[in-house]
Amino acid sequence: MKAVCPGSFDPITLGHLSIFERAAACFDELTVLVTANPHKNTGLFTVPERMDLIRRSVAHLPNVTVDTWAGLLVDYTSAHGVGVLVKGLRSSLDFDYELPMAQMNRRLTGVETFFLLTDEKYGYVSSTLCKEVARFGGDISGLMPPHVVSAVREKYQQ
Ligand code: PNS
Repeated sequence: MKAVCPGSFDPITLGHLSIFERAAACFDELTVLVTANPHKNTGLFTVPERMDLIRRSVAHLPNVTVDTWAGLLVDYTSAHGVGVLVKGLRSSLDFDYELPMAQMNRRLTGVETFFLLTDEKYGYVSSTLCKEVARFGGDISGLMPPHVVSAVREKYQQ
């Protein structure tokens, strides 16, 4: 069965990577889909940069591919024969955010959303928080893959 893990991934964290690894073990094929979030207009990284950082992070996972989509998520899943969306849940805040999207997506095309509970090591990790810490010179090593940590530092040095 094919699954898609959608998100902004600006940029990928070790929490995201942990979800990709666990989802890749559950499904035949997993696509990490960098999608546009209409509520987050600007990003630190361009979409091609985010995709490149993800590709380098999932190189050890043979059934994982990376793609992008700027329209409705369900149009992508329908066009590619994908029956399952996978999301990570860190807390009840994520649940409250994800529940209506999962229900709307299921209403639109019947696509199911599977939730994986985030590894407790990464329960507090988000791209937004890591960027804020890095912007003020804080240490984000151990929260993102090493090449992503370097890329974030470079962005803020520019
Ligand atoms: O990582 P994010 O920003 O929380 O991901 C949210 C995302 C991109 C998955 C969501 O905004 C989305 O699905 N965008 C695609 C457009 C869409 O289908 N919107 C309707 C969702 S019910």
